[in-house]
Amino acid sequence: MRIPVVAANFKMNTTVAEAFELVTSMKKRLNRLSGVERVLCPPFISLVPVKEVIKGTSIKLGAQNMFYERSGAFTGEISPVMLAQICDYVILGHSERRARFGDTDEIVNKKLKAALAFGLAPIVCVGETLEQNEGGETIEVINRQVKAAFDGIDAFRDTVIAYEPIWAIGTGKAARGDQANAVIRVIRGALSKLYGDDAGQTVRIQYGGSVTASNIAEFISQPDVDGALVGGASLKAEEFLSIVEQTAKIKST
Ligand code: 13P
Repeated sequence: MRIPVVAANFKMNTTVAEAFELVTSMKKRLNRLSGVERVLCPPFISLVPVKEVIKGTSIKLGAQNMFYERSGAFTGEISPVMLAQICDYVILGHSERRARFGDTDEIVNKKLKAALAFGLAPIVCVGETLEQNEGGETIEVINRQVKAAFDGIDAFRDTVIAYEPIWAIGTGKAARGDQANAVIRVIRGALSKLYGDDAGQTVRIQYGGSVTASNIAEFISQPDVDGALVGGASLKAEEFLSIVEQTAKIKST
């Protein structure tokens, strides 16, 4: 049994006061749920205030990125040691970081190793561009990204994978449930190949890309989809709560 995990990626949205208010408004209902892991990933400067808000609840905290060195002259960066004091999770290799901030497969691999070394639970993002999708390269791209992320990691340790087709992110044009499920199966296959069938069957894999309260059921009712990584819809309390509540309900039946 894989416990579903729904994560809110606020991206570069919300001031400290706004993040505080948003999380405060969702806390009670989020905490009430069981059978689904709930992770909030606000911007770095809101991690500590949000941690205070969710103290004593079962809600988890995640960062949106990190550097892989433990400390040193890396102006502007945040290290795994710092995050491990505060967070449960860290999102790695988000396509926005790959496209805009130079996160290559090699860097994602270094970050994954660092997160695991310091006890952070990683959410590793993979996904193809529209061009790759239309060119029939999806499977090849996904296999390559998964293989590269785990390069040199000899045993599988609890890592969440997020399948986020780039063409579906922030576009309002989500993938179909069956499309997402098919690619997620490919990811299970890639992990089985690397670490054995057990890893492929137990790894939790989310779908991300224009997830809303209106389409979450389509994804979550797929057998291989274990949750969602939610961007824009996580900034609206009612909408995000509905996504998490629907996930808990569908996966418990
Ligand atoms: P949207 O839900 O806004 O499409 O963003 C998805 C995403 O990138 C989550 O990490």
